[in-house]
Amino acid sequence: MELSPDFFAAVYLVATILFIFGLKGLASPKTAIRGNLFAIVGMMIAVIVTLFHPEVKSYTWIIAGLIAGAVVGSGIAMKISMTAMPQLVAILHSFVGLAAVLVAFGTYLSHAQPGSLDPVLMIEISVGSFIGAITFTGSLIAYAKLQAILGSNPLIFRGQHFLNIFLAIIMIGCAVIFAINGDMSFFFLMTAVALALGFLLVLPIGGADMPVVVSMLNSYSGWAAAATGFTLGNNLLVTTGALVGASGSILSYIMCKAMNRSILSVMLGGFGGESAAGSAEGSATAQAAGKGVKSASVEDVGFVMANSAKVIIIPGYGMAVAQAQHAVKELYEAMIELQIEVKFAIHPVAGRMPGHMNVLLAESEIPYDCVFEMEDINSEFSTADAVIIIGANDVVNPDAKTNKASPLYGMPILDAYKAKNIFVNKRSMKAGYAGVDNALFYMNNCSLVFGDAKKVTESLVHALREAKL
Ligand code: TAP
Repeated sequence: MELSPDFFAAVYLVATILFIFGLKGLASPKTAIRGNLFAIVGMMIAVIVTLFHPEVKSYTWIIAGLIAGAVVGSGIAMKISMTAMPQLVAILHSFVGLAAVLVAFGTYLSHAQPGSLDPVLMIEISVGSFIGAITFTGSLIAYAKLQAILGSNPLIFRGQHFLNIFLAIIMIGCAVIFAINGDMSFFFLMTAVALALGFLLVLPIGGADMPVVVSMLNSYSGWAAAATGFTLGNNLLVTTGALVGASGSILSYIMCKAMNRSILSVMLGGFGGESAAGSAEGSATAQAAGKGVKSASVEDVGFVMANSAKVIIIPGYGMAVAQAQHAVKELYEAMIELQIEVKFAIHPVAGRMPGHMNVLLAESEIPYDCVFEMEDINSEFSTADAVIIIGANDVVNPDAKTNKASPLYGMPILDAYKAKNIFVNKRSMKAGYAGVDNALFYMNNCSLVFGDAKKVTESLVHALREAKL
């Protein structure tokens, strides 16, 4: 029995609604698991029903693809560490981009009969192909930078914006000619230029700005999928792609605001890089000035904390690497027992993916009501007796406010420097992700507590419990 188009439309509508509920659920840690379940059910319904579509003539390649994808995908998902999630997301975006290019090419080969070209189809093919190609190479570069295969320094050259605009004009010109005359050589030229643009847009972007790029590529991959949906005449792919594209755009906007970057400069490529050379100079100057960095023992920190009324904890990437979140929960409990007011301060780009710190704190069951976003807690640092920074670096660097030469300049930070006492836990004097020295470490009210975040936090819990006795 052949299922009617109305049946597919109705089921696809249900799947779309489930995706919308899924996205809504992901907006808060409390509802994130439910949101994920909605999305999983929606995707299962979508895949299963599509298998019964009349245009599906043979299952051989589909089953082969499903098995290969399931084996590779679940293997990677089981092994991947939380800290490597952005790389995984970037490489998955590249697959979406590549798929869009291949579908566009395949559709052209199977549908386009010389002499009976449908210009609308040609436009859909062009748009799907060039957005897909930009997403593909851009995501590969993002992956290589996040995986440290390429250095995280921005690669900048004179006139790069003009080159990008020039290439974009050629790409769109080729798309228009292809839509008019269907000449395949213009399709190839357009796709090749788009591949080059993907490289050129992401190569100049510096390490600290990668989160915005990843969310931007997320959005591009959604638009590429939507364009593919038009090409294939699949409404579900159109709506799902639009949901991904729109939510990725909103996330990019939020992240641009959080990092004080302009969305236009993200789209043109090469933002946040102009000052990279100066940053090394800036850190060298700080060192040359001979400002010593103080270090403190866990016992010193325990003593100060035990005599504090209010402590703010700032988690960062190092907490994630050390998997110290459960020790941090114990630290929180030890402080509550001592009747210390404890708050957690979360920077929007702390860690290596959006919401990274929130996820880890939620995993260790730290109550949500003591976890605060940057704009809600920044006014409270001046009233804190102590701030404990566990594996965070760039997100508390005051150079972002004052040093125009720093690549972090302009990014809002957590105002930890305003607290009476600042303790920073890290393992060495190495820089954070942006690769720059941190002016905070040289301040009079700051001491570094060297060691692995998990071990140091556990020792701190011990020191606090001793202080209680
Ligand atoms: P970072 O600036 O990367 O600093 C992390 C610090 O943790 C380093 O100073 C490191 O110093 C320390 N560390 C590493 N392993 C540790 C361990 N086992 N124990 C204790 N400390 C350890 O982190 P952040 O402040 O969270 O800032 C995030 C940065 O990543 C920003 O520049 C952001 O733009 C970028 N980024 C963010 C995202 C998203 S979406 N969140 C995605 C990609 C990039 P030692 O090596 O000396 O220990």
